[in-house]
Amino acid sequence: MRTHLCGTLRSEDVGTRATVCGWVAKRREHGEHLAFIDLRDHTGIVQCVVPGTVDVRSEYVVAVEGEVRLRPAGTTNPDLPTGEVELHDCTVTVLNAAEPPPFPVDDRVDVDEVIRLKHRFVDLRRPTMQANLRLRAKVNSSLRAAMDRQGFLEVETPLLWAPTPEGAREFAVPSRLHHGSCYVLPQSPQLAKQLLMVAGVDRYYQVARCLRDEDLRADRQFEFSQLDIEASFVTQEDVLSFVSEAVLDAAEAATGQRPGPVPTMTWAEAMDRYGTDKPDIRFAMELVDLTAVFATTEFRAFSAPCVKAIVLDGGAGLSRSRLDALTDRAKALGAKGLAWFKVTQNEDGVTGIESPVAKFLSDDEQSGLVAATGATVGDLILTVADDYRLTCHVLGALRLELGGRPVSEGPYAYLWVVDFPMFDGVDDAGNPVAAHHPFTMPHPEDIDRLESDPASVRSQAYDLVLNGWELGSGSVRVHRADIQARIFSVLGISDEEAASRFGFLLGAFRFGAPPHAGFAVGLDRLVAIFAGEDNIREVIAFPKTQSGWDPMTDAPKPLAAGALRDLGLQPIPKLD
Ligand code: AMO
Ligand code: AMP
Repeated sequence: MRTHLCGTLRSEDVGTRATVCGWVAKRREHGEHLAFIDLRDHTGIVQCVVPGTVDVRSEYVVAVEGEVRLRPAGTTNPDLPTGEVELHDCTVTVLNAAEPPPFPVDDRVDVDEVIRLKHRFVDLRRPTMQANLRLRAKVNSSLRAAMDRQGFLEVETPLLWAPTPEGAREFAVPSRLHHGSCYVLPQSPQLAKQLLMVAGVDRYYQVARCLRDEDLRADRQFEFSQLDIEASFVTQEDVLSFVSEAVLDAAEAATGQRPGPVPTMTWAEAMDRYGTDKPDIRFAMELVDLTAVFATTEFRAFSAPCVKAIVLDGGAGLSRSRLDALTDRAKALGAKGLAWFKVTQNEDGVTGIESPVAKFLSDDEQSGLVAATGATVGDLILTVADDYRLTCHVLGALRLELGGRPVSEGPYAYLWVVDFPMFDGVDDAGNPVAAHHPFTMPHPEDIDRLESDPASVRSQAYDLVLNGWELGSGSVRVHRADIQARIFSVLGISDEEAASRFGFLLGAFRFGAPPHAGFAVGLDRLVAIFAGEDNIREVIAFPKTQSGWDPMTDAPKPLAAGALRDLGLQPIPKLD
């Protein structure tokens, strides 16, 4: 139906006759003899000049035939890639009329989220959304190409599946044939991909749809996609290298530039220096350990197992109300308080500190504080004292809030975080909780302490971080029944429970499970960052709102009585 795409016409095309198709972005009449149509398709906009009048309105679908010519002197539009040319002497064929759009199809117009999602088909016409969808496809295909090249086989795994022990709440699908029983939608293909390793697939990948019934946030949707990977007869290093290759390719495809090799940091170092297991390493402002400086302090608030600080360059000018707000923020994050110190200079040029709590510190502590943090005149030191985890958590969060930049802003700083702890806290029954999932192999150096000191055991689990977002995670898996049994026992999972929850996996492992390891990259997060979006919704064609609602289809909706009967369901009123 067309010879050219709207956004591609250039001065080189002058003199050719062209037919373009698309949506009317704008129509202007110049008296009775001349009309202008800005015609839009997914490649952009071109101006069409029509003799006489035309009966088209915004978002009508039309075909326009005319001759490409240079725009008359003084009328070129430098903001438009096609701005030097126009289609002249046009014939317009209306292919379909359209009701007025619910909002202008224009990136500059700020529209309410619900209205956008209700009319997503119009929203997606906006240039940014078109670009995001196309970027996503480009990233997907570069990831697929990288995995194909590295000898991985794409295998599709079931969506109607059984529960997997990965911690997220799962969606269930009631069975029509087996009333009272449900399939579970996979929160990830974790167990399926491990079974594929037992099946001799050797290197598996999938651009996999995952479903999790969790609270939605900027980086979380119910439905999302992973580049999911598993490989046999490989080490942790091999997996890091497969994935690095794929995500560096993706960055290059998306931005035209290949970031340097991905650095690696241990979990312990990440906590020490950044107070988080997903550090944004685009900026420094690292946590400074002051525990030694205050080892013998008389200041009650600082006699804690751990004292740390961050320095806000030039922050000494912060007002009292800003400082009070920071203290409140620290308390909201769980701290008992926040001690601030302004680094100042007196008339004699001597450096000192100004703080309501300075008087509680000895001279040595005051000078030690300034020396250890490296703060200089005009800086602000923020200090928290508590147990190690909490101190890191609070200062890590303040560091991001005070120094951080939007996640999607370049440069793209990938980071591998390795040697995660095997367990993270304890459950209500006092049993350690698996930090990744129970099929994660302990670190070989720590495996002897599994029963005697589980909290000190590192695992062969690793995360990929990009600009402070957790982009993906994975691990070397347990393939040996004896180690798996020890882990279940530490976790307080009985033989019966293990058999009922994932007996099919453990059973399969008895038939020759190779050593294997894997990873999953969150695709939505990756694409959002490349697209310059801080919410993954912007790179998903049909996302849900924060409350899990789809304003377009109005899902979720009550089922008709007949459908309920078929499924053996009877609604009960919501309890809370
Ligand atoms: P994990 O649960 O860490 O690991 O998930 C891997 C990555 O998937 C992305 N992700 C999400 N993205 C959008 N919305 C969500 N609700 C959401 N939840 C997770 C994140 C995350 O890092 N089976 C293991 C991987 C493995 O061990 O191989 C797994 O799924 O980017
Ligand atoms: P307090 O002794 O609780 O009155 O606190 C005195 C000052 O020290 C206040 O400015 C508190 O915010 C601060 N502070 C109290 N506890 C801590 C802590 N654990 N870490 C850092 N600062 C604290």
